[in-house]
Amino acid sequence: KSSLPHARERTLIAVKPDGVQRRLIGQIIQRFEQRGFKLVGMKMLQVSEDLLSQHYSELRAKPFYPSLLYYMTSGPVVVMVWEGHNVVQTSRTMVGTTNPTEAQPGTVRGDFSTHVSRNVVHASDSLEGAKREIQLWFQGQELLNWDCCDQKSIS
Ligand code: PPS
Repeated sequence: KSSLPHARERTLIAVKPDGVQRRLIGQIIQRFEQRGFKLVGMKMLQVSEDLLSQHYSELRAKPFYPSLLYYMTSGPVVVMVWEGHNVVQTSRTMVGTTNPTEAQPGTVRGDFSTHVSRNVVHASDSLEGAKREIQLWFQGQELLNWDCCDQKSIS
C-alpha cells in the first residue's frame, strides 16, 4: 500500500470533441502517464445533452452555454479517471488556463489550442468537483483498482 498522502486522489479528464477529431487522444494520455498518474477508467462516448446539463449545471445562465452544448455534442469525447498524488491540482496545471490565449507553452491548451470555445480538454477544478463529475460520468464498476507489476510477486 502507498504511504503517500492523497495517492488515491482521483480526477476526471475529458478529451473534448475537437481533441478527438484532431487525433490528440494519445498525446494527452501520454502526458498523464509520463507524469506518473494511473488510469483507472476510460471510455469514448457521444455525450447526451442531459449529461452535459448536469456536468455544466453551474453554467446554465452563461451566454456561451448554448454554444458550449453544441461544441460538446459535435462528436465523441474520451472521458477518463486518473489517480495519484495531488492529481486534481497537478492536472489543472498540466492542462493550462481555461482560456488558451493565456495558457503557458508546455500545457495541453498552451500547446494545442488557441480559443476558449475549442480548448481540447476538461479537467475537474477541485476535489469535490472531481468526486461529483466521476459519479456523474462513471458507474462504480467501470473504475478499476490495479497495482504495478513491480508491486506484485511473480508466480
Ligand atoms: S466562468 O464564466 O468563469 O464560470 O467559466 P469558466 O470557469 O471560465 O469556464 C467554465 C467552462 O466553460 C467553458 N467555456 C466556454 N466554452 C465555450 N465557449 C466559451 N466562450 C467558453 N467560455 C468558457 C470552459 O472551457 C469551461 O469548461 P471546462 O470543460 O471546464 O473546460
